[in-house]
Amino acid sequence: MSGPVPELSARAAACADRLRDADDVLLASHIDADGLTSAAIASSALERAGLPFETVFCKQLDAEALAAIAATDHETVLFTDFGSGQLDIIAEHESAGDFEPVIADHHQPADADTEFHLNPLLFGLDGSSELSGAGASYVLARALEPDAGDNRDLAALAVVGAVGDMQISDGELVGANTGIVEEGIDAGVVETGTDLALYGKQTRPLPKLLEYATDVYIPGISNDQNGVLRFLDGVGIDLKEDGDWRRWVDLTADERQTVASALVQRAMRKGVSASKIEGLVGTTYTLAAEPEGTELRDVSEFSTLLNATARYDRADVGLAVCLGDREAALEQARTLLKNHRRNLSEAISWVQSEGVTKEEHVQWFHAEDRVRETIVGIVAGMAVGANGIDRNVPILAFAEKNDEEVKVSARGTPALTRKGLDLSVVMKTASQAVGGDGGGHNVAAGATVPKGKEEAFVEHADELVGEQLG
Ligand code: C5P
Ligand code: C5P
Ligand code: C5P
Ligand code: ZN
Repeated sequence: MSGPVPELSARAAACADRLRDADDVLLASHIDADGLTSAAIASSALERAGLPFETVFCKQLDAEALAAIAATDHETVLFTDFGSGQLDIIAEHESAGDFEPVIADHHQPADADTEFHLNPLLFGLDGSSELSGAGASYVLARALEPDAGDNRDLAALAVVGAVGDMQISDGELVGANTGIVEEGIDAGVVETGTDLALYGKQTRPLPKLLEYATDVYIPGISNDQNGVLRFLDGVGIDLKEDGDWRRWVDLTADERQTVASALVQRAMRKGVSASKIEGLVGTTYTLAAEPEGTELRDVSEFSTLLNATARYDRADVGLAVCLGDREAALEQARTLLKNHRRNLSEAISWVQSEGVTKEEHVQWFHAEDRVRETIVGIVAGMAVGANGIDRNVPILAFAEKNDEEVKVSARGTPALTRKGLDLSVVMKTASQAVGGDGGGHNVAAGATVPKGKEEAFVEHADELVGEQLG
């Protein structure tokens, strides 16, 4: 890898040697796009290395989940996309002889360590932008390659994981992620280009592509169905085919250029700032081997498809798609995706109509049982870009988990982390203060808190954010 971190590769080699010594491996991973792609990369690498393994997924790697893992008869457990944040508990199991851990993760490590721990944060890399869980798993997979083998094709999944974890900064992947992209290009599985940075270029009809584009807010286009239709009508190209709207992928390069220029002009006329307009264009990552016009071709759409499976207890479906099932699993994933989209769009509408509560330094909403706890983080992230919600204040989003516990997700922006915001510390500290636990990244983190403690939690979080940004 062209990554500038030899220590990371050395640690990966040590982890790979440890795995080769195992009789069999229990692979445990997280239930989101990054966790699924991590598991797919790790399981492909184990399979190719001839190592027997079994795969499990956990919503969250808490004490209970770890106890269940300890109760299995696997001696070696490979954790991907989680494990670092729970190192304290894992280390206890290790000392007790319950299992020996190997970890490929990118979350903020808890206060403990173990020998076979592969995490970009240990080597001076940023775990929320420079390497994801799938990236760490990919580095491990390269180290696990048999002499005659080549695992570079797995770079495609690593790019899906990184983009799914929103590691794109200022329009492109950075840090060690760029080394993975290059290997994917060399292996013929990834293609990059410069194009409109909108979600849905492969599958959305043009009007929906533009109407739902809110990251850069364009008055008269974003969230404006009729405005979009008038805009497209004025572009001067036949954008329909047999009466149906074409998609971005269906346009020729010239046609794309025409629509993109018209969009930029419209944004300028509406007073959108030059720096924001720059954000309309970015580097796109495409999976070269996947058919055009499908969710699998665009890494961003691929990652949403995966979230639609694992966050609804169907990680098996997402994993099968990652591993190449283009029949039954893909069809099931598409059905789950429709349901996921409906849930997200209903949730966002609810948040917008209900509004958020503003504290001094944070804003929050409580969805109770209206939003599944496994997607409340995605909703919080989308809310930050939505109409009427302040982008300059971190957002906390609660949803019911069970009779005793509430899930809370926090999302900030890169501009806020540059000013000192670290939501991973906020979520960990504030949740522990009320008898819960949490962690994550500076820009996005989560926690579980006892029901009824939400208000106390918000107070703690508000104070901590105030200290960080003050
Ligand atoms: O558990 P994990 O690390 O995979 O989750 C990362 C989460 O952080 C994702 O849900 C992603 O949407 C969110 N995130 C974000 N903004 C960023 C980076 C990550 O909302 N800039
Ligand atoms: O159903 P509709 O097409 O309105 O759904 C919006 C969808 O866009 C969400 O379901 C979500 O899957 C997807 N999306 C996303 N990330 C974005 C923008 C949109 O996952 N940044
Ligand atoms: O669940 P959510 O998308 O809000 O998670 C954001 C980040 O916080 C993820 O990286 C997740 O792994 C982490 N998290 C955590 N502990 C929790 C909940 C979430 O470390 N209890
Ligand atoms: Zn991750």
